[in-house]
Amino acid sequence: MWLLVFLFVLLLFLYIYFIKYKYWENRGVPGPKPLPLIGNMGVSLIGKKNLSEIYADIYHKYEDCPFVGIYRMSQPCLLIRDPEIIKNVLIKDFNHFTDNDIVVYEDLDPLLSHNTFILKGEPWKRARQFMTPNFASGKIKSIFPLAENVSKNLVKYLEKQGHTAIDAKDAFTKYSCDLVAVCAFGIEGNSFVDPNAEFLTLARKFVTPGTSLQGIKLTLALLMPQLIKAKLAPKSFDEGMIELTNNTLKYRTDNNIERNDFFGAMARTPSILPIEIAAHMANLLIDGFESSSTVLTFVLYELAVNPECQTKLRNEVHSVLKKNEENFTYEAMQDMVYLDACVREALRVHPGLAQLSRVCTEQYTMTSSGNDFRNISVTVEKGTVIIIPLLGLQRDPKYFPSPDKFVPERFLDKTEANKNVYMPFGSGPRMCIGSRFGLLQVKIGIAQMIRNFEITLNEKTIYPMKYDPIYFTLYPKGGVWFNCKKIKVAE
Ligand code: HEM
Repeated sequence: MWLLVFLFVLLLFLYIYFIKYKYWENRGVPGPKPLPLIGNMGVSLIGKKNLSEIYADIYHKYEDCPFVGIYRMSQPCLLIRDPEIIKNVLIKDFNHFTDNDIVVYEDLDPLLSHNTFILKGEPWKRARQFMTPNFASGKIKSIFPLAENVSKNLVKYLEKQGHTAIDAKDAFTKYSCDLVAVCAFGIEGNSFVDPNAEFLTLARKFVTPGTSLQGIKLTLALLMPQLIKAKLAPKSFDEGMIELTNNTLKYRTDNNIERNDFFGAMARTPSILPIEIAAHMANLLIDGFESSSTVLTFVLYELAVNPECQTKLRNEVHSVLKKNEENFTYEAMQDMVYLDACVREALRVHPGLAQLSRVCTEQYTMTSSGNDFRNISVTVEKGTVIIIPLLGLQRDPKYFPSPDKFVPERFLDKTEANKNVYMPFGSGPRMCIGSRFGLLQVKIGIAQMIRNFEITLNEKTIYPMKYDPIYFTLYPKGGVWFNCKKIKVAE
């Protein structure tokens, strides 16, 4: 028996090593040498580096290559470096690359499997069309007063913390949860005052990976979904979301409440099932709070370690508000151009989702643009995973001089915003649907904090920042801890 197992493992090993790992070599595509079974993912699996950093390292190493062949465990993937090819994959030839590279099993994850990011083909098109009107600029403008109210609660909460070190993740999770609760469900989140608030508890259930072992299991399930079939959203999250949806539906029907928020729009859709509403609302909660609270953390970190930028931003916020009789309005926020530049620059240095990925859905011939890149081409087979290493591209000195430095001024000169290189919200038909909503959350939160407090980094923060290897996205290891010193402001 053991001999048979041993022979099987040996044959599998030989097959992967001598046949599978020749995939890119046979097609003339350059790339790093894979290690047996783990391919090029080694340092990520032993918890030394975040996956995005591995892709960025490969990006920087193969300077003259338009694309690089890599192995995610035993799976051949193509990492694209040439901005012209990136544009073709994401926009021009999108019909060859329509799907994101993530597999979720409907029987295990009934809510998550309906997420727009995860859906494929026709169901994705329908969900995207259904969700898009909720994020139009008019809608975002109309929710501004609600968002401003939540940002005032953030200020009050920070005032109460006195001299204690504040955990950015904790404060911003509360802030983003309350924002999504009021804008999407039309309910008060109460996260700042009630540690067991319903919405906050639900959100925390979704994002906490638990032990490192569970974190590694989830990463493996995301990397090898065919081999490791795991439920990604905790069961208690699904149950809580369904209960919240049913309660909100019942409350609105019983009290004849017609609201023009996200929930109202879903509930008015003909023949929609409660489970579908719950799935879309889970979509909003997951996409809406986690990404925005992470971006807030990165912006705050950069402003804390670059006090001259913080002062410049504070001067701008004060002077715009002074002209506006101290009223924080949607229009006033549009005038804060340095605020916009700070947020965009933080998104360049630390793109939360640091790689875009697509699956080739129709065979495609990929050829180097020739601009600074070696002249090679390859036929990409259906099913091949394409990786666009945002962290590498956005930290390439060729496109952004002194790339590791936080220099918001580069975004005051719009020519820096190179579209096929700088893409923190992705690009093409699958670009982030909620970028306006996310930017609104981040900008209003940062403006209020900088207006009211002087922010410094607390010594509990790991400096310089390291990314946590256990997360799939980028997040600072150990978190960001900061101190707030109140500034007297005109009301
Ligand atoms: C500031 C925070 C945010 C950042 C940095 C961000 C970033 C991204 C990125 C990089 C993608 C992948 C795009 C691609 O593959 O081309 C994405 C997709 C998506 N995002 Fe965001 N996002 C943010 C906020 C939000 C918010 C607030 C929502 C909704 C409430 C949202 C909803 C979505 C959805 C539904 C998709 C999938 C789109 C599709 O596949 O069609 N995001 N986001």
